[in-house]
Amino acid sequence: MSALPTKLQALAIHGGTPVRKKLLPYGRQSLDDADIRAVVEVLKSDWLTTGPKIGEFEERFAAWVGARYAVSFSSGTAALHGAAFAAGLGPGDEAVTTPMTFCATANCVLYQGATPVFADVSPDTLNLDPGEVAKELSARTSSRTKAIFAVDYSGHPAALDELGQLAKTHGALLIEDACHALGAEYRGKRVGGIADMTVFSFHPVKHLTTGEGGMVATNDARLAETLRCFRNHGISSEARQRQESGQWFYEMVLLGFNYRLTDIACALGLSQLEKLAPNLTRRREIAGQYTAAFRDLPAVVVPTVREGVNPAWHLYPIRLNLEMLAAGRAEIFRALRAENIGVNVHYIPVHQHPYYRERFKSKGSYPVAEDAYERLISLPMFHAMMAQDVEDVIHALHKVVIHYQGKGEGKGERSHLLETRQSE
Ligand SMILES: Cc1ncc(COP(=O)(O)O)c(C=O)c1O
Repeated sequence: MSALPTKLQALAIHGGTPVRKKLLPYGRQSLDDADIRAVVEVLKSDWLTTGPKIGEFEERFAAWVGARYAVSFSSGTAALHGAAFAAGLGPGDEAVTTPMTFCATANCVLYQGATPVFADVSPDTLNLDPGEVAKELSARTSSRTKAIFAVDYSGHPAALDELGQLAKTHGALLIEDACHALGAEYRGKRVGGIADMTVFSFHPVKHLTTGEGGMVATNDARLAETLRCFRNHGISSEARQRQESGQWFYEMVLLGFNYRLTDIACALGLSQLEKLAPNLTRRREIAGQYTAAFRDLPAVVVPTVREGVNPAWHLYPIRLNLEMLAAGRAEIFRALRAENIGVNVHYIPVHQHPYYRERFKSKGSYPVAEDAYERLISLPMFHAMMAQDVEDVIHALHKVVIHYQGKGEGKGERSHLLETRQSE
């Protein structure tokens, strides 16, 4: 490991030499020759879509996550929409969800004409707080809450047992948005077979990629059937089944969409699945190195890992102890970018986006999520990161944080608010 910086090193943002010459992204895919060969093979075959690779990928994926069924979709968002449909959400219904997520989690409730109800997150994991969910549920006199959408933020599983119990008590389904959490373990089991439905994304920054793509895993045969039908226009049989049995007749039985994942994508998914376990090991190793390296930075709060949980580390989000810093999050973010560290922020709480702000509860209602947002910075985290990449991130964070530490107490918080308006 290279020597850690002292206060004397000029920050790149002030004209000093950046830690890296080239920007390190916060996430990226890694594809090898076997992945490319798998895709080319399908390109030369009879089936580019609705072919045999789909069932093969779904079966292998279901077995990997420990679920009885898996239904593929063209994206994680389409998979969430499928889950919202299968849960029976419609106009007049509600679903409880977290503000600390990508907007797709709540959007899928709106796609069904239902209303998302936000509940605040726990301060340690930033996952949906079961106590806050219980409050929202008991505040409602009607039983129109059909689902709880929990998110495994950053790859740390949500409080699935507690939320599952709450859902059951209220006659709702627990839908786990595990788009960050493929391979995460909760109380000894991989996520996928625990909630009523578990949703995954195969976007390139995720643990496994198919370009775009998603999956819903479930143990319920009826939900799986509905999901298959919904992603295929609401048609109850598949084109290949008809072709192979010499049938032309089909029926559309519900209003679905074309949310199918292609055979090209499924071949890539199958090939990527082979590398999932070592990729997870590498992410866990990087997370361990970060956590150990930032122990000596009191202005940096590292992610908490609860007992009985093994996160998948899609993200490594730190929180800044702004009270100890002479700059706000926006300035520290810019300083890290100037060092060529591709930091990001996950997430602007969903209810603070203009679309939601204008239609739902106003800002100020979810203090834990809102306070976390002011402090969050996601550091680069992807399985192909080299040892030098990890060292560079550790070096740059020390360089920047040490520079701003102890230069004026509490100033960070105030200056951040001013900067936010200008730059975010
Ligand atoms: C928590 C969460 N849910 C849903 C999605 C949507 O997945 P996709 O991009 O595959 O549509 C994402 C994407 O990043 C996500 O992070």
